[in-house]
This record gives sequence, structure tokens and C-alpha cells, in this order.
Amino acid sequence: MSTPATLSIRRPDDWHVHLRDGPMLAACAVHTARQFARGIIMPNLVPPVTRVDEAAAYRERIREAIPAGLAFEPLMTCYLTDDADPAELVRGKREGVWVAAKLYPAHATTNSAHGVTSMERISRALDGMEKAGMPLLVHGEVTDPDVDIFDREAVFLDKVLVPLLERHQGLKVVLEHITTRESVQFVEVHSGRLGGTITPHHLSYNRNAIFKGGIRPHFYCLPIAKREEHRLALRRAATSGHSAFFLGTDTAPHTADTKECACGCAGVFNAPVAMQVYAQVFAEERALDRLEAFASLNGPRFYGLPANEERITLQARPLEAPERVEVPGSNKSIVVFRPDTPVGWSFRAKDPSLRSG
Ligand code: DOR
Ligand code: ZN
Repeated sequence: MSTPATLSIRRPDDWHVHLRDGPMLAACAVHTARQFARGIIMPNLVPPVTRVDEAAAYRERIREAIPAGLAFEPLMTCYLTDDADPAELVRGKREGVWVAAKLYPAHATTNSAHGVTSMERISRALDGMEKAGMPLLVHGEVTDPDVDIFDREAVFLDKVLVPLLERHQGLKVVLEHITTRESVQFVEVHSGRLGGTITPHHLSYNRNAIFKGGIRPHFYCLPIAKREEHRLALRRAATSGHSAFFLGTDTAPHTADTKECACGCAGVFNAPVAMQVYAQVFAEERALDRLEAFASLNGPRFYGLPANEERITLQARPLEAPERVEVPGSNKSIVVFRPDTPVGWSFRAKDPSLRSG
């Protein structure tokens, strides 16, 4: 198949996005809304989003941060703590506020201090979710400091996810931002009730990139990028057309000063370049005809939602994107992800005033 000059697909959705709050939300929301029709909004704010009223208020703040002319629907999630209340989960789902709930093992990643310390503690909450048909979204890493950081996802599958799926047989689960060959195989085996999201950055680089020529904090995220063999497995999964794999950018903005320091934050801000990078990966894998399934069809099918009717167009010309996005009311900025290898795809928002490369 030769590479076409343009590619038109149904408007995609982002099934894993950190929009933050306050000035960061004001800086970042537009970049996600330019590309995506809907987003599963991560609840790891400070304090975390654990109550229905907090989620409804946060959804309003997100809607207010989206510029006129862009349609974007925030799909809200509940941050599970050891005290998660099954009644609150079910009520929020019934009232159309929660779409899913998020499991952060305590201390696994950014703002996860209030996360879950043992799966026993949330088994009643998971029973309620199972009955209500509410998916569980999982940050799949163990937190045991004795487990090597590069093994934490694979160990999580055996130690936590296998018993979880066994105990809650009707629960739908998304293993988010998968980074290993083991996770690809695990999702394939359990597909139907288990989905896996894949980020643009984990498709673009392996762990060497974090250390190329010196330590590069803007390539640091969690789960951390793994060896090349794992990146190749992720590329095969994403471009396979298999319905269990779908798009989740895990765009996770932090201001540059909080990444370029002695103990830098984890997270890659990829929202302005997400579809361009995915298109580049699919073009390299000669699978552009499967980009729509990954980006626009498989996710809605998993969540039982309609696919978007609107379309977007990607163009085969070199990526034009800002190097940084400014945070309003501060002298701070967020560095935009850019792979080390060329990206030959651009995206144009319909409204010229909202355009980015
Ligand atoms: O790199 C990450 N950043 N991984 C996560 O799981 C959380 C995220 C964030 O919120 O910054
Ligand atoms: Zn995330």
C-alpha cells in the first residue's frame, strides 16, 4: 500500500487523558479537544476526585475550558480509595456522571498517595461496579520497592490482575497504557472483558531514549518505557486491528521546572501531537487502514458507546507543533512531546483560529 497524501477517519476519542485543573486545565484542554471528541478524564487531582458532586463540578470546569467552536465531551472517572463507597459509585453511574472508576495502587504514580493499598479493601466496591456495568480502569504496576521498575507491570498481571479477573468475573477492565509484550498477550487472552490502551509515546521510543546523550526527563513517564522488543509488541498490537486495543494518549502535563529537576515528575505531554504521532506509527507499519479501528471504533465498542459521526483529516506533511505550551498567569510552560524520529503527519482543526500543525 502506498502512503496516501491525506487520511480521513471518524473523529477519534482519547480513552485516557489527564487534563488537570486551574491554569493547567486552561492551557491543556484545547489541545485534546482539537483532536478528540470524547476523553476519559483521569481523576488524580489534588485532592482526588472521589465523589459524584466533585466529578460533576470538575466536568463543568472542563467544559468551560474548551473554546467555543470545539465540541468535546468529558467522560468522568472515580478515583478509588480504600474507603470507596459502592453506593456512591453506583449512584454516580446511574446519574450519568461516572463512566468508569480508576484503580491506582497506592504510591504507584503521580498523585496516587490516596490510592488502594490492597484489593481486599475495594472488593465490595468492585462488586457494585460489576453489577452496575461500570468498567474498572487499571494502572497496572505493583508498588513493592523490591520489584525492579521495569518488571512492575509484568508482576502486576500475575499478582493482582489474574486474581481480580477471577474474583470479579463480570467486571469489565481496561489495562491502561500497556508497555510490555506480556500485557499485549494478556489482553489478547482475556479480550471481550479486558481492553488495553496504548500511548503514542510508548509506540515511539524504548527505554534507551530516556538516557540518550544524558538523562532526558521529558521521556520519563510511568509505566516507564521498556526494551525494544516490548515496543515492537505494542506496535503489532495497536496496528493489528484487534478490537481489544484502543487509543489512550495518557497525555500528562507537568510544567518544565517540575520535570527538569533532581526528582522530576512522571508524564509526557503529547496532546498537541497525538494523532500525528499515531499516524506516523501506523504509516511505518503499513497499517494506515487500521488507524480508524484503533483510534475511533474499538474504544466506543468496548464502552458501549456510539462511534463519532464527524470526521477528521490527517495530512502527509511534516509535523508542525509548538515546542512548548504556556501556562496562563505564570511564567511556566509545558514541553510538548516530540519523538526523536521524524513525524510526517499533520492535523488541521476545522476552525482556523484553533489550528495547530
Ligand atoms: O507518567 C505518568 N503520569 N503516569 C501516570 O500514571 C500518571 C501521570 C500523571 O498524572 O502525571
Ligand atoms: Zn495516566
